[in-house]
Amino acid sequence: MSAEYQKEMIERINLLRKERNAVILAHNYVLGEVQDIADFVGDSLELSIKAKNTGCDVIVFCGVKFMAETAKILSPGKTVLHPVPASGCPMADMADADKLRKLKALHPGAVTVCYVNSTAEVKTEVDICCTSANAAKIVAAIPADKEVIFLPDKNLGANVSIALNRPMILWPGFCPTHMRITAEMILRKKNEFPDAFVIVHPECTPDVVALADKYLSTGGMLRFARETEHKKIIVGTEQGIIHRLQRENPDKMFIPVSEQAVCPNMKMIELNDVLNSLEKMQYEIILDPDTIAKAAAPIIKMIEAGS
Ligand code: 13P
Ligand code: SF4
Repeated sequence: MSAEYQKEMIERINLLRKERNAVILAHNYVLGEVQDIADFVGDSLELSIKAKNTGCDVIVFCGVKFMAETAKILSPGKTVLHPVPASGCPMADMADADKLRKLKALHPGAVTVCYVNSTAEVKTEVDICCTSANAAKIVAAIPADKEVIFLPDKNLGANVSIALNRPMILWPGFCPTHMRITAEMILRKKNEFPDAFVIVHPECTPDVVALADKYLSTGGMLRFARETEHKKIIVGTEQGIIHRLQRENPDKMFIPVSEQAVCPNMKMIELNDVLNSLEKMQYEIILDPDTIAKAAAPIIKMIEAGS
């Protein structure tokens, strides 16, 4: 894309954003060109809070489908647009409401904690949601005598379970992108950069997390990078975050654990799609009011619990 064409597109996006009274929200993993024109870039929890509190009429959500659905659930009166409907989260699709109902029936009295990376329908069946930023805090607040069903990410669940020394019933879902990051890769990078600090996302497997100095949500990684004295940081998560880490901290070196840790779904939304979305008001997230009402309760509980 020529610089001239890109500039023209950005100008049109800016005009339409004003005309439609729209806010553009983007996840930390989306393409740099989209992050750069967004009104706000953040992790799942930060984006949920923004979506809930925005005064705009239209939300253009640049992230995967469950994130746009969460925005709609929290702001049902607003028009929520998802520029590329095919951009979904494979982990979210690993849990379904029917199987969850059966699992709950086997564990009456258990508290069901659901990672926001889940469909709206699944959220209607759970007690409370969490993100990677607050999963441990939310599980820790559940009375010790209660069983906990955690879904859909078995790795986030296992990492929380280890951190809190609390057994949980784990759904067998996982993030295919974070599963590409292996303990061997971390060891290789540590060998290559012995003075580097290692941060990883808790969607990584527990053996990867055990080799890291810290595990953090994407928003937590950005905060850590800003505040730390460390100048070299090995980063174990999806590649897209390097764009913002490097832009915000030009004096620091960020070393991705793997060039292959790319979430293809997070890369589907291009600048052109954002423009089309605003021009044609597409593609609107539609959820039935009953689903919205039931799914909102566990998400609001999560937001109230804080990070
Ligand atoms: P964060 O909430 O940390 O941004 O993670 C969302 C996600 O999908 C990670 O794969
Ligand atoms: Fe889903 Fe993993 Fe992509 Fe995040 S990185 S959106 S969890 S597939």
